Amino acid sequence: MRDEYDIENLNPRKDPLNSKVDLRNIKADELKAMDLDAVDTSPEAPDSEPQRQYYFMAKCRQHVRKEALRLGRPLTCATVTFGCQMNARDSEKLAGILEAVGYEPTEEEAAADFLIFNTCTVRDNANQRVYGRLGEANGYKRHNPGMKIALCGCMMQEEAVIQRLRKSYPFVDLIFGTHNLYKFAELLYTSYEAGRMVIDIWKDTDRIVEDLPVQRKYPFKSGVNIMFGCNNFCSYCIVPYVRGRERSRRPEEILGEIRRLVADGVVEIMLLGQNVNSYGRNLEEPMTFAGLLQEAEKIEGLQRIRFMTSHPKDLSDELIEVMKHSAKICRHLHLPLQSGSTRILEQMNRRYTREQYEELALRIRREIPDIAITTDIIVGFPGETKEDLEETMEVVRRVKFDNAFTFIYSKRTGTPAAAMENQVPPEQVRQGFDRLLRLVQDTAREQVARYQGSVMDALIEEVNGNDPAMVTGRLSNNTIVHVPGDASMIGKLLPVSLDECHGFYYIGHIAE
Ligand code: 5AD
Ligand code: SF4
Repeated sequence: MRDEYDIENLNPRKDPLNSKVDLRNIKADELKAMDLDAVDTSPEAPDSEPQRQYYFMAKCRQHVRKEALRLGRPLTCATVTFGCQMNARDSEKLAGILEAVGYEPTEEEAAADFLIFNTCTVRDNANQRVYGRLGEANGYKRHNPGMKIALCGCMMQEEAVIQRLRKSYPFVDLIFGTHNLYKFAELLYTSYEAGRMVIDIWKDTDRIVEDLPVQRKYPFKSGVNIMFGCNNFCSYCIVPYVRGRERSRRPEEILGEIRRLVADGVVEIMLLGQNVNSYGRNLEEPMTFAGLLQEAEKIEGLQRIRFMTSHPKDLSDELIEVMKHSAKICRHLHLPLQSGSTRILEQMNRRYTREQYEELALRIRREIPDIAITTDIIVGFPGETKEDLEETMEVVRRVKFDNAFTFIYSKRTGTPAAAMENQVPPEQVRQGFDRLLRLVQDTAREQVARYQGSVMDALIEEVNGNDPAMVTGRLSNNTIVHVPGDASMIGKLLPVSLDECHGFYYIGHIAE
């Protein structure tokens, strides 16, 4: 039991008799500021969203309070995230709801009362890691039988995974997918009531629910979803199957969220989507991604805008033009190449040729000389020969990526590539991967070192984990720099002298 535990915190803040509120009468954008203890949970749950979820948050809060009083300590929760920025943002939404219902966040997974894994399935090793961590979680639960274990995210959208979980992981309490994450509060309440494994997976959705609580990891920067899903169906990729069809949020919702974030101290945002360049196409009033960026740029107090990820086939001249003249859009473009062989790109259904990619990347470099271009490359796609890989390496030499994420092809059940013949022998893949990795590292080192001796603005993000006398910042081009400093500098954009380049990062000092 913790000494500092204040039982008062668990009591309703207002006199429940005088202040019961029917959520049906509250507008969506006023819900976040609501006192959940004042919600009237005696009628049926409202049908409208997000009111319905706030109703269940209030119900869950009553449950959490009861448990905490019984145990004489607050209940704790841990959120573990696998995978991409999109998942990281989803985890902030999970954390927002967990906090609203009364859990205290903890880093100590083993001791948490509620443990949730937000999973990824883009490559098989992501799945294997989740199974490994679940095995550990089972051990924690044996020591702490009251612990609840939940699973959500992309991996849960695969039928084979659900079958395996049902059969071999009966200790899991709650499983849901990517399309119904907004219903987390309701599912949590169902799971409290059910006392057995609750599974709710949807095949798809066209719905976007706004105005749910979010608990940000960083006070000064934030991801902002601009769209969900993907329509591209690259032949190796499972994302369109697990994240569903592309849906764009309305610009006024996105800009409203950014304004609120800025008012709350955020100086840098990252606009998130699987393919941001096709943003806005299916909106009632279509808007381009470049148009959205221009609107975001106007928001006073916002200092930096990042975005991720761009598909080369959809990157417009308008975007290059907007980036070129922008004071806020960061000098970084993540432009996945995947392969430098036109033959393989065709098999991948990427819908551009090697020449088109090179032309685009080199044009961007000409137009915006200080930009950093980073990429993703897959080695060992079915049928890839040494000559194909040589072509990929040639593109790396020409475009000189500032950083490249290299992946070994992973066969994903249900994707067209999984059924292709001539899967490449693992030994050949490994050798090719090692050669490519050496090349991209050498190229990236050279690129990063371009700015040695100059002064650039860095957003200071954290105290350095290895040396508490140093802080770590990020340049507009996404390069990391370590400078002497302290926690008071976190969240500030400061001019930094880039003194020594150490491969992929700099050691510097604050320039006066
Ligand atoms: N195998 C290996 N890498 C993959 N990616 C997506 N699907 C696979 C797969 N089946 C990579 C792509 C993508 C990045 C997010 O993950 O390079 O850009
Ligand atoms: Fe996957 Fe291609 Fe969509 Fe990216 S664009 S998520 S690689 S299908």
